[in-house]
Amino acid sequence: MDKKNKTLGEFIIENQSSFQYSTGELSKLIHAIRLAAKVVNHEVNKAGLIDVLGAAGDTNIQGEDQQKLDVLANEKFIQTLRNREIVCGIASEEEDDFISINSNDNKQRNKYIVLIDPLDGSSNIDVNVSVGTIFSIYRRVTPVGTPVTLEDFLQPGKNQVAAGYIIYGTSTMLVYTTGDGVNGFTLNPAIGTFYLSHPGMIFPDSGKIYSVNEGNYSHFPQGVKDYIKYCQKEEEDRPYTSRYIGSLVSDFHRNMIKGGIYMYPKSSVASNGKLRLLYECNPMAFIAEQAGGKASDGYTRILEVEATELHQRVPFFCGSKKMVEKAEEFMAKN
Ligand code: AHG
Ligand code: MN
Ligand code: MN
Repeated sequence: MDKKNKTLGEFIIENQSSFQYSTGELSKLIHAIRLAAKVVNHEVNKAGLIDVLGAAGDTNIQGEDQQKLDVLANEKFIQTLRNREIVCGIASEEEDDFISINSNDNKQRNKYIVLIDPLDGSSNIDVNVSVGTIFSIYRRVTPVGTPVTLEDFLQPGKNQVAAGYIIYGTSTMLVYTTGDGVNGFTLNPAIGTFYLSHPGMIFPDSGKIYSVNEGNYSHFPQGVKDYIKYCQKEEEDRPYTSRYIGSLVSDFHRNMIKGGIYMYPKSSVASNGKLRLLYECNPMAFIAEQAGGKASDGYTRILEVEATELHQRVPFFCGSKKMVEKAEEFMAKN
């Protein structure tokens, strides 16, 4: 069969056996995420037509204003996962605490937990610019059959069994990994089916794009300032091009296809940067590594950073391997 004719559903079934813990449970979970993605995609697409734009009037635990679509996307993902009784716990950017899920018979047998950023790039919703969803999946570490605990959610990123994102862009794509490379699927909106459009996605070893909110320049550590100046210098294949959408998913996706580095460093006003370790940086880092790229906090591999809180933030440097290594070099000098 022509690869591009393969649907996500077919791909999941075909690849189930190559997954080391294959019981079908993870496949069901990816099926559920696929369904929720279609529902959220539908809502995002009609955003200008119905009353879902703008602030919801509430703030999340991180003190950020929740947008109506943040809340809606959160509800849709949680509802879909809860109804199918395929996970034992969920943590979300939009929920203060993790949610423990007991199946009806009260004998919770599910092994997986999910962490999600239901809508990434909130500030872009109202202006019709790409947004996304990020998800991260682990096997629980506490015994099956008992309620989940914080320990299940605070695992290092290297323990992830799957991670992915959905990008609601000019087309809608679902990109994910189960630790065996990265594959991208594009939604045909006419029939509501995802097709394998980007098999075996790979980060170019190096690239010419750097993505960082340069408005924060004066607050950045010296290493980051120096690296930015290096990117801008007229030398060899530089200056690089600056591209920053402000939706991590979209900036990452572009850089994975074209080659580039995304940075959200710490600053004098935000000691750990802005991005959240568990449902933003870890899943993106897992995907990056699976695609031959690299993700670091400037010094350490993201997937080895110790998690101590659900909504913990971490500085983030992610993208083409050689570019991240170069940024680390500048960090180490300072
Ligand atoms: P979220 O919408 O889930 O809160 O995430 C927004 C994140 C990320 O997607 C983006 O790259 C970054 O915040 C942008 O932050 P700045 O506006 O500070 O550049
Ligand atoms: Mn986000
Ligand atoms: Mn979000």
